[in-house]
Amino acid sequence: MRLRDASSADAPALAAIHAQCFSMEVWDAAAIAALLATPGTFVLLDEDAGGFIMVRAAGGESEVLTLGVKPAARRRGIAKALVLSASERAVEAGAAVLFLEVNAANNAAIALYKGLGFGEVGRRKDYYLAPHGMREDALVLRASIPLMRV
Ligand SMILES: CC(C)(COP(=O)(O)OP(=O)(O)OC[C@H]1O[C@@H](n2cnc3c(N)ncnc32)[C@H](O)[C@@H]1OP(=O)(O)O)[C@@H](O)C(=O)NCCC(=O)NCCS
Repeated sequence: MRLRDASSADAPALAAIHAQCFSMEVWDAAAIAALLATPGTFVLLDEDAGGFIMVRAAGGESEVLTLGVKPAARRRGIAKALVLSASERAVEAGAAVLFLEVNAANNAAIALYKGLGFGEVGRRKDYYLAPHGMREDALVLRASIPLMRV
């Protein structure tokens, strides 16, 4: 696994990974490049496997904006490594906490985050539109960082 910082030149590759990970949320290359240009935002990319995490750190806090690993590369610890490395980067940027929103029905992601020490601090009712047209809640998760590497 080789993680590196992504730049706006990687936006098309990031959009392609994102499209394989999220069916209802289209982030095109232009949207990803625009996010990357916002202050405090960084992306760590595992180019070989096809996975990345985008985080914004500002004002002593940080937030996972998105995380995805291509289906063929899942369950190899790539997301875990991405979250751990991004949390260390956020600490370097002055953050002491890391937040994220996750679909309450996304058992894989919730297992990942809880295993890394995140706890539930809120729920946003009907936050996501699901493929079947229904709305699904988001959980707001929080962890103090740096996370424990276990
Ligand atoms: C969620 C996601 C990022 C996990 O990526 P991954 O690289 O497969 O995750 P890892 O291999 O690092 O898994 C680490 C731990 O998370 C948990 N986990 C991951 N996928 C899981 C699954 N499908 N079911 C149950 N637990 C799972 C396990 O505890 C796993 O450890 P283990 O493999 O030793 O049991 C990936 O499934 C994905 O991209 N999904 C679609 C996009 C998404 O939901 N992003 C998160 C939005 S907040």
